[in-house]
Amino acid sequence: MLERTRVAIIGAGPAGLLLSHLLHRHGIESVVLDSRTREQIETTIRAGILEQGTVEVLAGTGASDRVLTVGQKHEGIELRFGGEGHRVDFADMVGRAVWLYPQHEVLKDLIATRLAAGQDLRFGVTAERVEDAGTTRPRVLARDADGNVSEIEADVVVGADGSRGVTREAVAGTRGGYFREYPFAWFGILCEAPPSADELIYSNSPDGFALISQRSPTVQRMYFQCAPDTDPGAYSEDRLWEILQARVPGTTLREGRVFQRDVLRFRSFVTHEMRRGRVVLVGDAAHTVPPTGAKGMNLAVADVVLLTEALRALLLDKDGRLFDAFPETAQDRIWKAQHFSWWMTSMLHLQPGAAAFDRRRQLGELRTVVESGAGRAYLAEAYTGWPLPGREAILGY
Ligand code: PHB
Repeated sequence: MLERTRVAIIGAGPAGLLLSHLLHRHGIESVVLDSRTREQIETTIRAGILEQGTVEVLAGTGASDRVLTVGQKHEGIELRFGGEGHRVDFADMVGRAVWLYPQHEVLKDLIATRLAAGQDLRFGVTAERVEDAGTTRPRVLARDADGNVSEIEADVVVGADGSRGVTREAVAGTRGGYFREYPFAWFGILCEAPPSADELIYSNSPDGFALISQRSPTVQRMYFQCAPDTDPGAYSEDRLWEILQARVPGTTLREGRVFQRDVLRFRSFVTHEMRRGRVVLVGDAAHTVPPTGAKGMNLAVADVVLLTEALRALLLDKDGRLFDAFPETAQDRIWKAQHFSWWMTSMLHLQPGAAAFDRRRQLGELRTVVESGAGRAYLAEAYTGWPLPGREAILGY
């Protein structure tokens, strides 16, 4: 069956859902496809920190009210090293904040908003191929769980289908991208316990990195650096707490039942091509960052804010200049976020086989940051998020 829409969006993650929401506010129709079920999307645990600009876009466009009521505003983080905590005060440094609000809650809000507006969201539908990227009528070939095939022709196809999606291939072919792998991963847990601290703790310890994050007053999220091939079942619960406690010397963690564990791989990637003809990539389909610094979802939102303006101009004003320039325009923030994520990662983690020199140099770097107003201001500015170009247009609409 051949269907037509203005924008076919592959992937119902934060990028795809937010884009369809923002396009709808301009009266631009879209179809969103995702191979996962709604339940899978709404229950998969991902990141938890939203930049101030992300929150302004979500709350200011009616995508989520709960981010402001259920989400928690954080005005700083703690960097812990050498047995001491050092607070980086965002409010003081840059007058900005971040919000702790889990990604799957953002997705629940976006899905509810989209469905309430009668929008076309298709779960359990797998995009198999994108064709005719070089023409003004690109097409998505898709298949549902029963094997029914559909063909959607659009003015523009947007790949918001993550780092393993099919759209990247249609855009970048085998040309690949810029890539960096790290010799470690994060072991993540969710546990039933009260928060151990008011704010997030990023800890550099002689045994390796740990991050003490949160989810709610009764559920906490914590991570510790591990080898990339670690089996999530490898440790007993007692052993997990022993490892975590040892990684935050000077803090006593409040322990509780661990009810989920996972191992997160670390990769930095930026595709060589973000657009081919009328097919464009956003979010993880175009770039991935290691999780230190929580830039992944926020970068996806920044791509979408830019792309919304570009699509509005292309589809409503018949002016393709912003659309043609989109990859170039998006690159600036993408590489700033790549640098910040790499920097936080390399400053805080223990390199396997690091010499005594490297270890002392790293502590020197941490001390440079926390003892310098300029150092703390850079961290605060990057962590809370650089200004979002296009934000006014989105909010003002
Ligand atoms: C999280 O809570 O999942 C989280 C928070 C901060 C990060 C990464 C992950 O830098």
